[in-house]
Parts: sequence; C-alpha cells; structure tokens
Amino acid sequence: MRQERLKIWGGNALEGKVRVSGGKNTSVAVIPAVLLSDQPCTIENIPDIEDVHALVQILKNLGAKVSYEPGVNMVIDPRGVDDWHVGYHDAKKLRASYYLIGALLGRFGKANVAFPGGCKIGSRPIDEHLKGFRALGAEVEERAGMIVAQAKELTGTDVFFDIVTVGGTINVMLAAVKAKGTTIIYNAAKEPHIVDLANFLNSMGAKIKGAGTDVIRIRGQESLHGTTYAVIPDQIETGTLMIAAAATHGDVEILGCIPTHMEALTAKLLEMGVHVSDSDDAIRVKMMRAHRAVNIKTQVYPGFPTDLQQPMSALLTTAHGTSLIQETIFDQRFKHLDEMIRMGANVKVMGRNAIIEGVPQLYGAPVNVTDLRAGAALIVAGLMASGITEIYELEYIDRGYEHLEEKLRNLGAHIEREPVD
Ligand code: EPZ
Repeated sequence: MRQERLKIWGGNALEGKVRVSGGKNTSVAVIPAVLLSDQPCTIENIPDIEDVHALVQILKNLGAKVSYEPGVNMVIDPRGVDDWHVGYHDAKKLRASYYLIGALLGRFGKANVAFPGGCKIGSRPIDEHLKGFRALGAEVEERAGMIVAQAKELTGTDVFFDIVTVGGTINVMLAAVKAKGTTIIYNAAKEPHIVDLANFLNSMGAKIKGAGTDVIRIRGQESLHGTTYAVIPDQIETGTLMIAAAATHGDVEILGCIPTHMEALTAKLLEMGVHVSDSDDAIRVKMMRAHRAVNIKTQVYPGFPTDLQQPMSALLTTAHGTSLIQETIFDQRFKHLDEMIRMGANVKVMGRNAIIEGVPQLYGAPVNVTDLRAGAALIVAGLMASGITEIYELEYIDRGYEHLEEKLRNLGAHIEREPVD
C-alpha cells in the first residue's frame, strides 16, 4: 500500500465550527448486530473509516449484501448469510471482529472466528467474553488462533464480569438477545455505545433493559426484525477536537455531539482554565491563556476515558506545572510519549503512570504513530508545536477518524497529507 505522511506546520489557532462524525465504537458493534435480524437494516451516521470497511467486507464474505453511501446510510441485508467462519486475515484487521463471535452464535449457534487484531496498548485477553458465552451454554475452544464456539441452544443465565469490559458486555448482549430465557449481566460496562447498541437491538424487537447501568437484563426473543437507526456521534472524536481546540489556544464549536457524554473531559478542561460551554447538541471550547497542569486517572465510563488520555497528554506537555496521568485500564498506553519527548516534551513514564513537566513549547519533528489514539495525540502535538511535524504510519489514524485532517484544515490548521517517496 502506498505510504503517506501528514505534514503539519504548527502554531495556528483552530477557529470555527466542525461537525463530529458518527461513532466508531458504536458502529463496529451495530454492524455485526444486523446478523441477528431476519430482515435488512438501514443504519445512518456510520463513519467512513477503515474499521467500518473491514467489518463490511467480513459481512460480505459471510454472504450479507451491504450497500454503503457515506454521509447517507448503510443498508445491510443479512438474509444470505450462510457461513460462520471468519479467518485470520479478516479478523486481524480490527479489534471489533470479535463481535462476530457473539453475533454468529446468536444467529447460528456456532462461530469459528480468529482472534481479533486492534491497537497494541497492552495485553487484551478476551477471557471474560468466552466466560459469558460458556455461561449461556456454548462450548468454546481456542485452537490454532481460532475461537470455535457452538451451542445446541443458548439459554439465558446470569453473567458476572470479574472486570468491567466494553467488548465483553457487547459480545454477551449479542449472544443473549435470541437465547431462550432471560440473561442478566452484572458489572456491565456503561459506555454510550453500550446504550446505543441496546437501543438498536430494541428497535429490532429485542427486550433489553438497564443498558447504561451495571446491570443489564435481556429477555431472549425468537426472532428480530429489520429497522432503521442512526448511531450516536463519536464521543472520542468529540473529545479529540475539544483538546485540539484548547491545545492551539483556539475557539471551536463542535456541532452534532452529545455534551453529556463528554462530562469527564469537560470537567478536566475547566479545571485547567479552559472555557467550555455547551448546548443540547454542541460544545464550544475557547482557550485564551496559559493552562494549568492537572492530574488524570482513566476510569470506565463515566470516568475519564482511556481513549482520551493520549490526546490529553499532548495538551499537558505545555501546561503550567506538573501533571500526573494514571492509566488504569490498559498496561501499555504511553508509547506516544516517546515521540513527544522527541518534540521537546518533558515526560517520565513509570509503569502505568506518566509524569509530565510543562515546557514552554513543543518543536516539530518526524514522529511515528503506534496506535489509533497515539496518532490523535501526535496530531494535537504537531498542531501546537512550532515548526514542521511529519507523522508516519497513518493507517492507524484512518481506522478511527473520518476525514480528520480535512476537519482540522477547515478550522485553520496548516496540515497536508502527502505520499512518502
Ligand atoms: C473497547 O476496547 C474500545 N474498542 C477501546 O477503544 C476502549 O479503549 C476500551 O473499550 C475501553 O473503553 C472498541 O470498542 C472496538 P475492554 P475493549 O474489554 O472492548 C481487560 C479505541 O481507541 N479485559 O473494556 O477491548 C482489557 O485487557 C479503542 O477506539 C480482560 O482482561 O476494552 C483491558 O485491560 C482502543 N478480559 C480492560 O479489560 C476480557 O475478556 C478493558 O478492556 C476483556 C477485557
């Protein structure tokens, strides 16, 4: 594939209005969920990103018909799906390929899916997912890099997660919506995209209550019908744009977002001295003067999102004082800081903690992206730095952000994508 890089001439304040795209993490759960329907589904607000394209290809390989018009809708007809195998090369493209296990189990009572890919941000086992499938009555084996699951009949039961897991909660929901009887998930994740998936499934005739709390009740249904549904805006893209506005001392209004999903970040930005004001579907971020250092501790929703810790670390590199970031969710989510040190940041990493001493200025440099949100962090750093930053390994960014450089250019950033000779 042709190598490309982003080139950023830093120092421009971002100003103006920008509309956020549909959510990546909700879309990659809703698309596999269509396999549980007996009829076609129309989904709106699906972002035009690589993870979506990879998932659509997997569904087509299984026999689904998919037509996607970015900015309009995606129509998925699952009636031709007669296969339950997802191989290594397809599953490896993204983390969310593991939702095919729950969806195919729910549709066929069997699934042969290779272990998922996804950002290398630490060890990312799926033991809780498999525990949930077994509790529902499936036999699950892990062999030769494949998860082989089958169940004569899935039976509703209680599932108690030892650790709050977004993927595990979603996967058990997918397997349980057509199981016989009622499933209760305890210690469930509460992220906005869990609620969005429950609303989507309920619009297909599922009976799910309690999504968004730590106890989700699912009354299994014989069959689910088609629906038309619009997914929620991307909480992490919203936060990334908020942080970029503050980091460039700009004044940006983000349209089409859900401010109540952003409360942990908004509170932190206010603590730093950033002006944040919101209406029912827009947030305005204004930064006129130096910002104060703060401490960040990532938590499950509604705490500070781990996916925003990385972009936030860029903003903290020039805050007044010393900031501490505690990453409690993943055990290797600081790789981007090595790249920022090359841009002049003063950072010490100790295990799951990073101490950031504010410096007056970052300086542009060639940097490498190691994972999706590291890419977002390095773009923010490039926008704030003086001089030119060249960002390599863009495929990570293209997996999760829809036309990000175009959005930033429309806000006044000097940013270009160019081939690497
Ligand atoms: C989802 O990952 C998101 N990905 C991640 O976003 C996000 O960082 C994460 O949730 C937390 O919010 C998608 O939605 C596709 P978890 P997931 O299961 O489901 C451990 C991004 O940038 N765990 O909530 O993999 C796990 O290792 C991506 O968009 C187990 O031990 O996250 C981690 O330490 C990056 N056993 C913690 O739980 C399991 O069976 C939370 O993981 C499952 C998880």
